[in-house]
Order: sequence, then structure tokens, then C-alpha cells
Amino acid sequence: MEPVVQNLKVNADRLWDSLMEMAKIGATPKGGVCRLALSDEDKAARDLFVRWCKEAGCTVSVDAMGNIFGRRKGKNDKLPPIMSGSHIDSQPTGGKFDGIYGVMAGLEVIRALNDAGFETEAPIEVVCWTNEEGSRFAPAMTASGVFAGEFTLDYGLSRPDKDGKTLGEELRRIGYAGDMACGGRKVGAFFEAHIEQGPILEADKKTIGVVQGVQGIRWYELNVTGMEAHAGTTPMRRRKDALVGVARMVSEAHRIGMAQLPFGRSTVGMMQVKPNSRNTIPGHVFFTVDLRHPDAETLVGMGKAFQQSCEAIAQETGLTLDFKEIWYSPPVKFDAACVRAVENAASNLGMAHEPIISGAGHDAVYLSRVAPTAMVFIPCEDGISHNEIEAATKTDCGAGAQVLLQAMVERANAA
Ligand code: GLV
Ligand code: MN
Ligand code: MN
Repeated sequence: MEPVVQNLKVNADRLWDSLMEMAKIGATPKGGVCRLALSDEDKAARDLFVRWCKEAGCTVSVDAMGNIFGRRKGKNDKLPPIMSGSHIDSQPTGGKFDGIYGVMAGLEVIRALNDAGFETEAPIEVVCWTNEEGSRFAPAMTASGVFAGEFTLDYGLSRPDKDGKTLGEELRRIGYAGDMACGGRKVGAFFEAHIEQGPILEADKKTIGVVQGVQGIRWYELNVTGMEAHAGTTPMRRRKDALVGVARMVSEAHRIGMAQLPFGRSTVGMMQVKPNSRNTIPGHVFFTVDLRHPDAETLVGMGKAFQQSCEAIAQETGLTLDFKEIWYSPPVKFDAACVRAVENAASNLGMAHEPIISGAGHDAVYLSRVAPTAMVFIPCEDGISHNEIEAATKTDCGAGAQVLLQAMVERANAA
């Protein structure tokens, strides 16, 4: 590493203060945040991000999917930008770090370059991607997916929430339906910093996870229909209780995840029971399933096994089953040179690091289709995430941003 580059330093206190300021927006009583995509809280956090980008001297632009880009000029501004960022939206009971850490770390890189008066060859951009979580609008990583050409713009804008409001309508409502085209431009490289969201780095006492790739994810939506009837008068053998069938399907999903230890994952995270009345037999259940595995073939097998089990259960219980796969994000292997840039940065900085595979989905998954991509992980307390108690230390947040800075500058100057 060049000595001048080695001297570039992020300011961990400033990064931490920005994270804590952002955490006030949508703050929940248990210390987390609820900042659902395109809610008023998401808008408020976006407004603050835009203000900070402008204060850092960036040009700000917003694309048709509401992705926000803060750009710091390069010496050669015609070169494609070296980009970093993540998401501002959160889970309903989310933490203070998932997503927003990557956006603030990207901004801190720009602030640190400003402090040093350091000009990179290629421009540097910090980005906030719309609707990464997929909690309000399925699927996850929607807007980075449109940017990378995985989804059409129409598909992205037409995603509905549970009340039937579309992503596009809500973007307009909060004033973030931008006029720039989504995607179709060259990105020199993409680096995303994120908390690990799992227990590995903490257990191994490592500060930095050099992310090699991301496991595959399949999302399913199931509608199971039986018949509503009186809870007191309908004999047990005459019932078509949708929830009783679904209980067995949930148990099958769990069994299929357990059958693929140590890597398999299966989750039923959302369920709607109708009519949801204590003395009426449930006539209809909607529920979602999230299956994951780093090996694509194994994941296909898990999906098939689950579908077969559900079909058999529906037949035995006289229920009607509508089984849909709504999203597939294949396992991803990141760009070798970008991964090496992260590893070199951690090594040169003397930080304990190790290779790691991401269990969570990230915008970097789709960016990797259009740009050389890598990720930097930092530990989080007890490996807990998607929970209000999610926690990371100021030191680790600073360390991750420092690695990001070094990797991005190396790349920006190699251009
Ligand atoms: C994103 O948070 C995911 O579900 O992995
Ligand atoms: Mn995230
Ligand atoms: Mn998340």
C-alpha cells in the first residue's frame, strides 16, 4: 500500500455519532428501529442522508427506484465510480446497524477522504438502495435487483405491500421517485460493509470477515384453503381446518432445514389466518417460507422436498394448496480481486480477519452481476440481528470502515 493511502484514517467517533443519530429515526422502545421501506421514517432517514452527502460536498442523484447516490468527484471523472453502500430500511423489529451501517461507512469513507484532501483517480459514490429487506415489499433487494437488470423497472415499482400499496406509489408519496434511469451505467467496483448478523466472527475473535460470497435463498408463498365452520358444533372428523394442515407444513419446513445441518436454513416468518376468530375453524391460511443453502443443488432439493410434503399433507387433510415460489437468489461468489483488496486492507492494518460466507442476502448479491463486488463484515453481539437488541461496537464499526476505505482507494487508484 502507498504510504499516503496508509495514512488515510476514518473517524470512528464521527461514524458512531452518525449511526446513533440515524437510530433516533424510527427508534423503538427496546432500543432498535422500525424503518420500513418507504415509510415516513425511511423518508426522514433518507432526507438526513442526503443532507449529510451534500455537506460532504457530494452531488446527489436519485434514480427511478429511489436509490440515492452521493458522488465525490475523481481526478478522472469519466472513470466508472467505485461505489459503496447498503440500505436504510429495516425489519419491523430491526436493529441500529443492519443496512444503515454500510451506508454510514460509505459516507465515512468520503468524509475521511475530505479530511485528508485526498483525490482518488475514479470518483467515489455512496449509495442507499431502496427496499433491501423485503419485509414490506417482497422480494428483498428489489431496487439493487432492478439496477442490475435482474428485475424490470415495472416489476420493481409494482411490488405491493400487504395493504395493496405499491412500491412506486409510496416512492412518489415520500418524494423519492427520481428522474435518473435505474441502472444501465458502469460501476468500477462495489464494496458493501455490513454487520455479520451471525455468531462466527465473535466466536473466532476476528474483527473483519472477508466475505467470499452469499448463500442461495428461495422464497415461497403458500395459500391453504379449508372451510370455515363453528368451533363448537363441528365434530373433529368433519373439519377442514386450514391451520391444522399448515401446522404440519411448518413442521416439515423445520425438518427440511434440520436435515441439511450445518448449512441449511428454513424459516416460516409470516402467517395470516382467516377469519382469525377464536370460535371459528380457520378456513384459510397464507404463510411464507424462506429456505437457504450455500449449494444451489441442495437448495433445489430442499424446495422440492418441501413442496412434496405440503402436497401430501394437503391431500391427507382435504385442503386445497396453492404453492408458489416467488423469488430465487442463487448462491454468489464475489470477485476474486475485490475480495483480495478487502483481505489485503485487513492484513495491512493488522486486523484479525478470516474468510466467511454470508448467510444473509445483501444488495451486493445483485451488484455482483454488473460490477466486481466484495463485502466487509464486522462482528455483532451474540450474532443477533433482525432484533431490536442488535449491537456492534464503535471500535469494530470504525475498523470495518477503515478496511472499506483502504480497499476502495486501492481500487479507485488502480483504475
Ligand atoms: C436480508 O436481510 C435477508 O433476509 O437476508
Ligand atoms: Mn442488511
Ligand atoms: Mn436485514
